[in-house]
Amino acid sequence: MPELREVRDGVVSNIRKLLFQVLILGRKSGSVARVHIIMGVSGSGKTTIGKSLSEKLGLPFYDGDDFHPPANKTKMKAGIPLSDEDRQEWLGAMNRLILEQSRQDGAVIACSALKEKYRLALSKQLESPLSWIVLRGDFELIHDRMMARKDHFMPAGLLQSQFEAMEYPAYGMHLSIEAGPEKLVDAILDYLEKPEFGLVGLGVMGKSLARNLASKGVRMALFNQYVPGKEEKVAEKAIAAFPELASSRGFEDLHAFADSLSRPRNIFLMVPAGPPVDAVIQQLLPSLSPGDILMDGGNSHFEDTDRRISMLSSYDIHYLGIGVSGGEKGALTGPSIMPGGSREAWEKLSPYLSAAAARDKHGQACCTYIGPGGSGHFVKMIHNGIEYAEMQLLAEAYWILREGMQYSPERIADLFDRWNQGDAAGYLLEITIKILRFKQDGRLVLDEIADIGGSKGTGSWSLNAAAQLGVPANLIGEALFARYLSSFKEARTEAAKQGGTVSAPVQVSEDQLHEAYQLARWINHHQGLEVLKAASNQYGWDLKLPELTRIWTNGCIIRSSLMETLSRALMGAGQALPAHLFLVRDHRTALKEVVVMALKAKLAIPCLSASLNYLLGLSSADSPANLIQAQRDFFGAHTYRKKEDPFGKAYHTEWE
Ligand code: 6PG
Repeated sequence: MPELREVRDGVVSNIRKLLFQVLILGRKSGSVARVHIIMGVSGSGKTTIGKSLSEKLGLPFYDGDDFHPPANKTKMKAGIPLSDEDRQEWLGAMNRLILEQSRQDGAVIACSALKEKYRLALSKQLESPLSWIVLRGDFELIHDRMMARKDHFMPAGLLQSQFEAMEYPAYGMHLSIEAGPEKLVDAILDYLEKPEFGLVGLGVMGKSLARNLASKGVRMALFNQYVPGKEEKVAEKAIAAFPELASSRGFEDLHAFADSLSRPRNIFLMVPAGPPVDAVIQQLLPSLSPGDILMDGGNSHFEDTDRRISMLSSYDIHYLGIGVSGGEKGALTGPSIMPGGSREAWEKLSPYLSAAAARDKHGQACCTYIGPGGSGHFVKMIHNGIEYAEMQLLAEAYWILREGMQYSPERIADLFDRWNQGDAAGYLLEITIKILRFKQDGRLVLDEIADIGGSKGTGSWSLNAAAQLGVPANLIGEALFARYLSSFKEARTEAAKQGGTVSAPVQVSEDQLHEAYQLARWINHHQGLEVLKAASNQYGWDLKLPELTRIWTNGCIIRSSLMETLSRALMGAGQALPAHLFLVRDHRTALKEVVVMALKAKLAIPCLSASLNYLLGLSSADSPANLIQAQRDFFGAHTYRKKEDPFGKAYHTEWE
């Protein structure tokens, strides 16, 4: 007769197995499966634990040792440690196995995965983040175990080399092997039953990001506040509506939500920037523990992020301010992700954030650690500043064609389509073409939209930052003010009665317009990058422009072939800004022509004109700033410097 305890354990184990099968079935309906890697040095118990875990989960088990080519096994038997080169072929085979298993139901794999670069090789092209179970123990314990082991090709003498090579990851579940296999497997099962990622706020972006992560097999807990009559059972409804969320858990009680998560907790806040972020943090704080990680994925002001980082560090809670770009669709299918703040937190979360991000041309994630403090949100803010000017430049090109050259919307769309086949290609141009063709009930929707541009803050913050850092980002300024000016609808309508009529046609060619547009875009990007460079110096962030532009080549709103070119140029030039790239481009005549002609026709083209002014100012050795200095000295004794020594001694003149 089996003992009562054994019967009970058997029942619990079967229920667990069933639960994991349900999770796997849930995944099948809309997400990729997770592969669990049991990693550690030789002799840490990977095979024993892996086999037992695989049985409990009802998943196949593979031992990484079986995938070594014979030459490696011979080398190890002879007591010679493997080199990185020896491991290449083996890592390739393991990566293929992992990819194959992730397309099925998942698997448990024992694999030493000693170095970070090996782990990256194992994860190559994988859509879901690997689930890492890290076995840790001290040298003596493992050595004794190995001495007792028979029939294994790895002699105990190699253990020292394994310890030397081991780079323990910051991420994953770390276990001390002292506990013994049974307890360890139980602990792993407990961990795997719990959601590993929490998300607060199921608005447009939050819901999309939750679906994105869940589709990669990430176990999610979702929280949305309960607002009677307005927001009721939001998480539950989302889980029912989207198959990829089937194995997620929904909450309306913040404490229960926090309690459901595996420790340390990873919680993504997707709530509107400003006071709502502080409010959620305050509500969550009593349920959090030291070591937990909070991430703010909204468009928060970088100084707020700085403040939250210091406040939470006094509770030993890590905080990441994460710029997420790509709108609703991007958040769902792969945004560009810009995390800044706690590096430790980034190292723990990089597998998740990278899995959720878009891929660049070379298959790398459009996600990189930006730097400390509020740098992630600062970079996202400047992304938006560049976005404002990109949008305005497109609006001006459209306006010149429509009002100044009397093109129909279809004709403009056709022209933009041709531009989109070449160096002007980009997401914003792409959506503009679609907008220009979008009709409902035979009417162009664009023509029914009031011409009053809205904004939510990042544009004006970008301009403030540029001004404070002393960077002339006049395109961001003009783009922002064009939106503000557009809101003076009544005043504009009134003033237009006194002779504001456009005198068409604007005498420029399509080629000239294209060249002017491209040159202005060069200048816009150049200015944005200059702001980032200045901020990096000012705040000591050590921003890496080649990496920043790389993660903007896909997923984000300003992705474009120009960004690809910039990223390539910066990779070659390091941190040096490619100012020469636009200065040598001979589109200046076209820009001048377009600006003059459009202004003559009474068309307001603030960003195109601003780019011409910037270019003229930047390429003039002499400027009238000497008069400014004379005036300053005249009325305020501010002093001036002399032409023969422009950065030297200060002079003052008694002007009267
Ligand atoms: C993005 C967008 C996104 C949002 C802007 C819009 O990168 O995904 O920039 O962040 O659409 O904040 O800003 P405005 O409402 O100020 O135009």
